[in-house]
Amino acid sequence: MQFKGRQTIDATRAAVWDGLNNPMVLQQCIAGCEKFEEIGDGRWQAVVLVSVGPVKARFKGRITLHERQPLLGYQLCGEGEGGIAGFGRMEATVTLQDDGTHTRLDYVFEASVGGKLAQIGSRLVSGVAQKMADHFFVRFNQLLSQPVSVALSRLDSADGPDGTEEAYGNDSNCDVSLTVNGQFVQRRVDPRMLLVELLRQELRLTGTHVGCDTSQCGACTVRLDGAAVKSCSILAAQSSGGEVVTIEGLAPAGSLHSLQEAFNRCHALQCGFCTPGMIMAADDLLRSGRPVTDASIHQAIEGNLCRCTGYVNIIEAVHQAARGNDKAEAGS
Ligand code: FES
Ligand code: FES
Repeated sequence: MQFKGRQTIDATRAAVWDGLNNPMVLQQCIAGCEKFEEIGDGRWQAVVLVSVGPVKARFKGRITLHERQPLLGYQLCGEGEGGIAGFGRMEATVTLQDDGTHTRLDYVFEASVGGKLAQIGSRLVSGVAQKMADHFFVRFNQLLSQPVSVALSRLDSADGPDGTEEAYGNDSNCDVSLTVNGQFVQRRVDPRMLLVELLRQELRLTGTHVGCDTSQCGACTVRLDGAAVKSCSILAAQSSGGEVVTIEGLAPAGSLHSLQEAFNRCHALQCGFCTPGMIMAADDLLRSGRPVTDASIHQAIEGNLCRCTGYVNIIEAVHQAARGNDKAEAGS
């Protein structure tokens, strides 16, 4: 994976150079960075919490600077281990130039991953890497565009164990309020936060899964204002004022929804990763009142991918749940 980028930083070249060599600044700019410390001249060690799709791991690694040319740039290389999640290696070249009263920063970044991370797919990994790079420069610009004393005092008081809130830039955060599984919730969030991130990270409703970064897998499907939606393709702020139901709220606590019972009975899951999204999509069909046929089931779950089952048992489970609902209605 290779990334190239150019950033214009609202600060002098000397300030940018200082920032690029200051572990406190760097720690605050790397989303998820829990520790970043100097262990020798031009050598740092870091601990970073990284989430890539279903894999979340704490990476511990070392970074070494090479070719340091004060005010002009440097090269750095690093490698980190994330236990069973795998490992990552990277090399980057950073160069600085004056750009009027600003500084132009060019970077070329190459990364490789191994282990479980490599199995997830380079598209997802590179999407996360790009997002982290974006966070880095948003935060870097914020810190450097203010007087150093102010920036450093803000660093001292920065909160958030993974630095994420600071990395997003909390000055522009917005309030969202919505009803989730019958409970009214309010949060102040980054305007770029996705609904799925709000559900999983803020509300700890981890039954809603993230299986891709391309809005294709459907693992994140929830009900929003009565319709099934992919919660990875909606901003939390867009859902403000809405009513969300997740897999956790589909049936009263301690009981199972007819679809959950049917999936269980029909062995309509193996690893179960797709199951919450699949059930929420099927629930949308059953609630719609449309006839439940093979064709309408195919249509209802066409945006949901399952890597394990081959779909046959899923389709049977939806039929059984629909028949059960019909019987219940006829008997009532
Ligand atoms: S996480 Fe894959 S579609 Fe939302
Ligand atoms: S049961 Fe494993 S992805 Fe569907």
